[in-house]
Order: sequence, then structure tokens, then C-alpha cells
Amino acid sequence: MSTENQPLRTTETVKHLLDKIDPDRVPAHVAIIMDGNGRWAKARGLDRSEGHVEGVNTVRRITEIASETGVKCLTLYAFSTENWNRPQAEVDALMHLIGIAIERETADLVKNNVRLRMIGDFDRMPADPRRRLQGCFDATSRCTGLVLNLALSYSGRWDLANAARLLAADAAAGKLDPAEIDEKALASRLSTASLPAQDPDLLIRTGGDMRVSNFLLWEIAYSEIDVTDKFWPDYSKEDFINAIIRFQSRERRFGMTSEQIAGES
Ligand code: FPP
Repeated sequence: MSTENQPLRTTETVKHLLDKIDPDRVPAHVAIIMDGNGRWAKARGLDRSEGHVEGVNTVRRITEIASETGVKCLTLYAFSTENWNRPQAEVDALMHLIGIAIERETADLVKNNVRLRMIGDFDRMPADPRRRLQGCFDATSRCTGLVLNLALSYSGRWDLANAARLLAADAAAGKLDPAEIDEKALASRLSTASLPAQDPDLLIRTGGDMRVSNFLLWEIAYSEIDVTDKFWPDYSKEDFINAIIRFQSRERRFGMTSEQIAGES
């Protein structure tokens, strides 16, 4: 399976679909649970790792289209805390793949003004992908376009436990009155706090499963959810644009009534 750095064409279909997006209501933050790499490979009689290799091509495609649509932040669930429990050979292959893919894409990310960031336990990553990731963080640190945020060695509960620890430490040091701990105080201590938009407006899951899998547990409180049966390697630019179009057709009420929402706009 090729991971060559091929330039990606914007097809007529994609251009046509892009015109259907309302530029004033583009979701600022899109988060994706990229699932189905293994099943995609299995269906073709290939090793699971081949599915991950093909999944990297999808990462490239979707990063490009997210940037074109004006999304400010794209968070991709690339490796969960629980994924460390997969067979060691698969973990090693994924870590290697993530490292080389990031290094290979760095020049293009800079060229396209995309800034790479991550959420998760950076120190738990093996030294080699850590070094390559750091190189890309540094190289793209001045990019002002799309933020491509990789969730690596990440889980929502891990992040919430960290935030609780930070709150407790501040309280113990006398910097924070426990009585004043509110949602804002907790949210500001999550790893997503410094993203251009903390809460995803749209959460996409490929591979058909209807679950959240310990992803952005705090931040998805009011995200619109779009689940597709397609496996991640098959997910196309058209699929992404259609998810945005469906998102734009929904009424987001944030616990209020339709009438209240209508009155506000
Ligand atoms: C889920 O599919 C996918 C993953 C656990 C890894 C996703 C990682 C990539 C696509 C590579 C990311 C690379 C970069 C550069 C960000 P699965 O293996 O759980 O599939 P299954 O549900 O069919 O078994």
C-alpha cells in the first residue's frame, strides 16, 4: 500500500459540494474517531497494519479538506490510552507509522499553514515518534491556519483525572478556593483548553459503532454526532463535506427550546 506524498486533486464533485456549505456556519472544531482500519484490511485479506497505512492517506485527505472548508481545529483520535493494550507488534507498527507520517508531512503542513498540536500523554510515547512529533510542532508553531490536533495516548478520563489533580494541587497551594471550583475552572485545566475552540461542534465516527470510546468526554457535551458505516480508509472528502452539510441542517438548542433559539437569532 502506498504512502507516497501524492498531490490530492480537488475534483469537480468536491468543488460542487463545497459550494453547498454555508461559510458562516462552518463548525469551528471537528473531532473524528477514526475507526475501521483493521476491518478494512481484514476485508481485503491484508494485515491490520495495512489498514493503518491506508488510514494515514485518509488523514492527509481530510486534513486538506478541513482546511479548505474553514474549520479551525480538527482533532483526530489517533491512539487512545487503551490502545496501549493492543498486541505489541501492532502498537509498535502504529507508533512507527505515526512518527514517519508526521515527519514526511511536515513540509506540506507548513506550506498549507497547518499547525500540528497534540493532546495526550506525550511522555508515554516512544522516543522516536516523540522526536518526530516535536520536530513538527516546532516547524509548524507559527502556522496560523487549521490546527491539526492529534489525540495520542489520550483518553477523556485520563484528561479529566489530570485536571482534577491540577485543581487539587492549586487548592493545596492556597491558589484556589475549593468552593470556587466551577465548570470554567475545570475546563481550563483540560488539555484542550488552548485549542482555537475547546468543544467540538461536530463529532464524526467512522466504522459504524455507536459509542464514544473515552474520547473528549467533557468537551462533547453538546457536539452534534455523525456516525458513518464507512471504514476510515474509505472516508472521502465528499463524506466530510456531507457531514458538514448535515451538521448545518441541524438545530443546536443547547438545552433550550426551538422558540428561544429562533428568538435569539
Ligand atoms: C482504529 O481502527 C484506528 C486506530 C486505532 C488508529 C488510527 C491511526 C491512524 C489512522 C494513523 C494516524 C496517523 C497519523 C499521522 C495521525 P481499528 O484498528 O480499531 O479498526 P477496527 O475497529 O476495524 O479493528
